[in-house]
Amino acid sequence: MLQGKNIIVGITGGIAAYKIPLLIRMLKKEGAEVRVLVTDVAKNFVTPLTLSVVSENPVATDFFDSETGQWNSHIDLGLWADALLLAPLTANTMAKMAAGIADNLLLTVVLSARCPLFFAPTMDMDMFKNVVTQQNIVKLQALGYYYIEPAKGELASGLKGLGRMPEPEELFSILAQYFKKNTIFNDKHVLISAGPTHEPIDPVRFIGNNSTGKMGIELAKTFAQQGAIVELVLGPTQITTGFPGISVHSVITAKEMTEVCKNLFPQNDIVVMAAAVADFTPKVVSATKIKKEIQLNSITLKPTEDILSSLGKMKKNGQILIGFALETDNELENAKKKLQKKNLDMIVLNSLQDMGAGFGFDTNKITLIKKGEKPVYYILKSKKEVAQDIVSEIAKYI
Ligand code: CTP
Repeated sequence: MLQGKNIIVGITGGIAAYKIPLLIRMLKKEGAEVRVLVTDVAKNFVTPLTLSVVSENPVATDFFDSETGQWNSHIDLGLWADALLLAPLTANTMAKMAAGIADNLLLTVVLSARCPLFFAPTMDMDMFKNVVTQQNIVKLQALGYYYIEPAKGELASGLKGLGRMPEPEELFSILAQYFKKNTIFNDKHVLISAGPTHEPIDPVRFIGNNSTGKMGIELAKTFAQQGAIVELVLGPTQITTGFPGISVHSVITAKEMTEVCKNLFPQNDIVVMAAAVADFTPKVVSATKIKKEIQLNSITLKPTEDILSSLGKMKKNGQILIGFALETDNELENAKKKLQKKNLDMIVLNSLQDMGAGFGFDTNKITLIKKGEKPVYYILKSKKEVAQDIVSEIAKYI
């Protein structure tokens, strides 16, 4: 089941570390190659000898191994791994990860790894409930790390509550499930545009819109979770996107977005234009700040290039092109027109008449219209769930 998969297990100083050899056994039994990294404190709870015997590999703590005389390269380890699991993960190491601190081998591997990272915070319940710990969990999740919730039960302190490391069987099934799910879009190249564009008027002002990029970013994450190699062309937004498997191309204007999308288009199998691209841009951009004394009462605009239409014209056999339609009236009719005119395979319709749908919300309500098929109506869901619905529909083309 895990044949050919390279997994790094990172162990920090918690009592539950003694259970990790069992997990490593299970991973090995299913064909995975396992490398173990331990912090100094972790060695008090599980011996490197045990870990090295079960993993059939040397166990690394330091950059330099005094016994073998070998240099442990964090970059090589980060590149080697298909998944990185941190269990048990102490509040201390988690806080360092959230702050980007890299003062031991394990943390440098975390910072340089390109693979999905799973983390299982394990600690006493009061430490777990602490606001700082909770904030760090949220921070790490925002970076795209997979959070494995602790279990409830008896803790090393004698107290009962939330904070126990899930049993090795459970950790194993999370990884196994991930690799199973992760195969649908394996090796598929996906291009996604997201966010607004800003069209400059002068050095301090622009014409923009209320898009936050949330929907497109959720799509990018969902594709990446399912094995795709994702290029995300992202307009100006406050949302962080650090996520394994996604390369972000930051752009500001519609012109920049057009250039990047057209450049990347030929090497992608699936393309989703979720960005709210400006339809017009100022004809002239003032090189200096426009002063109010000049009594400016109009700005002359010129149309921008319709990126999706251009991509529709460039589309080759086998490429799948998907667009969005944001409508306020005559929704179905307008969306169907866009589907046909822009040479799309599918269009995602958002109606601003629906409460909780559109810019800025965490939720969305969509209708999917595929070429030659009847529209499918969905209920109001979180943008994450909506992304899963859209990606599941796209998976049917493969
Ligand atoms: N789009 C694009 N380039 C533009 C404008 C829009 O690629 N310059 C894409 C959007 O990313 C979206 C689709 O076209 O996938 C539809 O965008 P929408 O704003 O709903 O429609 P428009 O085509 O701009 O038409 P209108 O604003 O008149 O509804």
